[in-house]
Amino acid sequence: MSEIEKLKSQYLDKLDKCSSTDDLNKIKSELFGKNGLITNQFKFIATKNENEKKNFAIKLNDIKIILQEKLNLVNKKIEIEEINKKLSNEKIDVTLPERSFKQGKIHPISQVIDEISSIFSEIGFSVAEGPDVENEYNNFTALNTPQNHPARDMHDTFYLSEDKNLLLRTHTSPVQIRTMLKGKPPFKIIAPGRTYRCDSDQTHTPMFHQLEGLHIDKDINMGHLKGCLNYFIKEFFEVKKLKMRFRPSHFPFTEPSAEVDIGYDLKDGKIVIGEGNKWLEILGCGMVHPNVLINSKVDPSKYQGFAFGIGIDRLAMLKYGIKDLRSFFESNYKWLNHYGFDPVDVPTNYRGLSR
Ligand code: PHE
Repeated sequence: MSEIEKLKSQYLDKLDKCSSTDDLNKIKSELFGKNGLITNQFKFIATKNENEKKNFAIKLNDIKIILQEKLNLVNKKIEIEEINKKLSNEKIDVTLPERSFKQGKIHPISQVIDEISSIFSEIGFSVAEGPDVENEYNNFTALNTPQNHPARDMHDTFYLSEDKNLLLRTHTSPVQIRTMLKGKPPFKIIAPGRTYRCDSDQTHTPMFHQLEGLHIDKDINMGHLKGCLNYFIKEFFEVKKLKMRFRPSHFPFTEPSAEVDIGYDLKDGKIVIGEGNKWLEILGCGMVHPNVLINSKVDPSKYQGFAFGIGIDRLAMLKYGIKDLRSFFESNYKWLNHYGFDPVDVPTNYRGLSR
């Protein structure tokens, strides 16, 4: 057998036994590398005499092709083997028990803001917003609150600058001013949001939530205010009858002003709205003071209307039986798990305003 025939059978044999990419690459360079056995045989062609030259070249070429084909074949075989090995290692055991999965809950305040917004949106109110950091003008002056008013006191207000121009808004009423300065009447908006006052006990927290309401048009009167609030409270608490009283009050930005109480009873430690003879204050309201309209570039000889401010946290406490206001903001996981809402299981009066 000629030398190249021997080479052929020796390497076909090696390739048959080869089972890894590394070994295959080694064989490849042994045969076809720069100094490879087959490569070198090609260099011998020139040394052969005329008779042998042609036959040798043909034979060598045939052997080269055979070995290359074998190499490709073994390469494919190894590739498939490696894929199969990987697949069997990554096999998924579908019978394994699932890992425990904790789904988040919606905070009662977020839930209540959604419920309130959806009730008011049904009677034509749209949602407006304002920043938590306000200026003194929008929070007090434009709202007809004089320089010496107690609400401006350092004990109540968190001032953010020495000149007392920047502060954390003490109520959502500045959104009234922002809304009116930005647009043209009529206005019919609600503005839910965070508010801040220097206070902390079972029913007060330094940060709390209010919902502002504002309805300005040519002939809006206190009857509309009463009807609107009565409708809202009944819808919110899902009750057919409601005891509600308007107590004369005072706010610099409304005239006349009133505070609204709703009647409730305690049954087995639970608050029942619409029954009993206990009263709970839930909001302040009134007819927007002409000075506020003037400061907001609205002509009070043509336009008038009402405004109200509701404590959202208090509504949430009443509706969902939460006793301490401070617990809302303690980020206690167990508390949230108990009082929070399942995102896919919202209460019946939720009407689908997007979260
Ligand atoms: N801003 C008032 C408060 O925080 C509530 C209110 C709003 C009263 C609008 C009247 C009109 O107490």
